[in-house]
Amino acid sequence: MKATSTSSDLSNLPVSEMAESLVGSEIIKLAGEIKARIAQGESIYNLTIGDFNPEIFPIPEELLEGILAKYRAQHTNYPAANGMESLRVAVSDFMRKRQGLSYSPDEILIAGGARPLIYAAYQALVDPEDIVVFPVPSWNNNHYTHLSRGKARLIMTGPETHFMPNAELLKDALDGARMLALCSPLNPTGTVFSKEQLSGICELVLNINTARLAKNEKPLYLLFDQIYWQLTHGDTQHFDPVSLLPELRPFTIYIDGISKAFAATGVRVGWAMGPEKIMNKMKSILGHVGAWSPKAEQLACAEYLEMDDAVDTYLADIKTRVMNRLNGFYQGFQDLKRDGYPVDAIAPQAAIYLTAQLHLVGMKTQEGGILEDVAAVTDYVLREAGLAIVPFYAFGAERSSTWYRISVGTAQESDAHEVCSRLRTALEKLS
Ligand SMILES: Cc1ncc(COP(=O)(O)O)c(C=O)c1O
Repeated sequence: MKATSTSSDLSNLPVSEMAESLVGSEIIKLAGEIKARIAQGESIYNLTIGDFNPEIFPIPEELLEGILAKYRAQHTNYPAANGMESLRVAVSDFMRKRQGLSYSPDEILIAGGARPLIYAAYQALVDPEDIVVFPVPSWNNNHYTHLSRGKARLIMTGPETHFMPNAELLKDALDGARMLALCSPLNPTGTVFSKEQLSGICELVLNINTARLAKNEKPLYLLFDQIYWQLTHGDTQHFDPVSLLPELRPFTIYIDGISKAFAATGVRVGWAMGPEKIMNKMKSILGHVGAWSPKAEQLACAEYLEMDDAVDTYLADIKTRVMNRLNGFYQGFQDLKRDGYPVDAIAPQAAIYLTAQLHLVGMKTQEGGILEDVAAVTDYVLREAGLAIVPFYAFGAERSSTWYRISVGTAQESDAHEVCSRLRTALEKLS
């Protein structure tokens, strides 16, 4: 080391290549900037974060009471490494009753939310340089691929397929791939796979694996994140790979949990389901990370998931209230579109998200400036309408994509009306 090194040199010593090149979440960054503006007194509707405001969407009362009771009963030591047995049994029952999926408690792994399970699935299945295929926009697959030192192969999707991939889009992309990461209902779009779309992909994956196994090659794994599946709206139906094609079971890992359906993002209970060997490997990986779900939460969640009536009542209520908000924004955007403004939205199907379009690049502001790109449009609606939303490029779509995610987990039902009227005023000022 040179004797001239300063303390600032020493604060920026190299770390691993993986960590050096890791990028933070674009959404969390954007949300941070918005919080700072709100703190300075700006009136902003912050619809950027895929989370709930607990004052508007509290967790189920029975779950809350259960967690408090379990802590009072001193359930404060390490949980079982693969999750408390009562919870794995409850999840097994829950998934059989509600989704018709039959996984034994030994094929279920519990962790502190869905994220560690996604991380562990990547670590368990993807070697450095392995190819991971995922559609964009989608949530965080780029980061998990980076963490596992794999290579991302992105599949661009558009409004014509509701931003979902299909066999046609995927068929040339799966060559030599180790994993296909899918999500439905999808974050950021709030859209779902149709039966035809997912069936086509399932057939494709099965054909690939039949050919690979005949040649003694490693299979293509299917990671299926269905964390929002219970929040389907109207007559939307959720489809999943193994129900559609049971032969896919040896290659499929489900990711699920209570974070979204029960507005319990801070409670931290998630589960994965899949072949026992893979669940065991993921358990070992997460054991070293220590990413368990707290024991009290697990025990309370086990009891709650077995309370059929309470669960039904809670789900019916949250779905109605989320749907009212999504519909409010959807209608507001349709009204603006009908009145000739260059905006659009896709009818909401599921989750807490609406896909909306602002086609404003190239338009002129009253001050005479031009909205040069999507970032300028995002900034304009934030400044002029106090509307904070996330452009799809934050989810891996092209920088020029004019589509946005509107998240309603922190919105009041009346917000849609106010936001759309502010947006109308901001749009009127453009030429
Ligand atoms: C598609 C998807 N999967 C998983 C997660 C993470 O869930 P958890 O909070 O249980 O880690 C999110 C959170 O936003 C998500 O959108």
